[in-house]
Amino acid sequence: MSDEKSPEKSYVIGTHDAEIERLGLQHRVWRPSVLEFWRLAGLTDGMTVIDAGAGPGYAAADLAEIVGEAGRVLAVERSHRFVTALKVRAKAYGIANIEAIESDLLDYAWPTGAADRIWCRWVLAFVADPAQVLRGMVRALKPGGALMLHEYYDYASWHLAPRNAEFEAYVAKIIASWRASGGEPDIGLALPRLLSDLGLEIERVRPVVFAAHPDDFVWQWPTTFARSNAHVMAENGTIPRCEAERIETILAQYESDPASLVITPGVLQIVARKPA
Ligand SMILES: C[S@@+](CC[C@H](N)C(=O)[O-])C[C@H]1O[C@@H](n2cnc3c(N)ncnc32)[C@H](O)[C@@H]1O
Repeated sequence: MSDEKSPEKSYVIGTHDAEIERLGLQHRVWRPSVLEFWRLAGLTDGMTVIDAGAGPGYAAADLAEIVGEAGRVLAVERSHRFVTALKVRAKAYGIANIEAIESDLLDYAWPTGAADRIWCRWVLAFVADPAQVLRGMVRALKPGGALMLHEYYDYASWHLAPRNAEFEAYVAKIIASWRASGGEPDIGLALPRLLSDLGLEIERVRPVVFAAHPDDFVWQWPTTFARSNAHVMAENGTIPRCEAERIETILAQYESDPASLVITPGVLQIVARKPA
């Protein structure tokens, strides 16, 4: 594989150590919402779950704890760096029921009828052909099994309050950079049609948005990404260095005012069931 095509180079957000840390923070912020979503989707002990695009495995570790010794988690991820981080964490925490599989989801030999649930968060937004991945997922579900999907539906709904035009212009550039790399940030809007075309029953759809002040833990999630991604975009020439520095200045200004708010980009959580 050429260096340009390697998962570490071609993934628009990157797989560097700071991104592994950021994904951990992101998971901790989202964990209460996700645990509730999984419960509503019927996740329970003894189940086999595929974590599709598992990253460094923060959610996979929680899934493994819930399904317990009688269950197992197949964590599929294409980045070697993320798979290594996942294995290191699983070993450190003594988690024995996660199997890490290094594979692109577009190439993965989905095991037929193996999974009670498939969890996929913020991955279909980066995949060139999400319908192909969904077809594999449907094959891998047991009859009566369900997909648990979590994707953005309106990335441009990410705002600072009071409104900030420079920040919104930066968000528009993030959206453009994802699209230029072959993804679609608002993939959530396409999912209901795609899922129903594949014969799945859409059981639950819920939008999730947070509004957070600077002293709220939730504030850390969007602002840490805004900062780290500005750095990545400046490094790869998508924005000038001065614009990345300007984002830092704007965020610092908002953080000095306790009345500031961040409104997070809209996420859809979808449960779609394969008929029994
Ligand atoms: C924003 S991260 C989310 C990681 C994890 N799902 C989570 O919620 O913490 C996106 C992940 O999708 C992975 N990914 C993107 N395209 C992929 C593909 N075609 N096959 C497998 N993984 C992919 C990336 O390597 C990265 O780990």
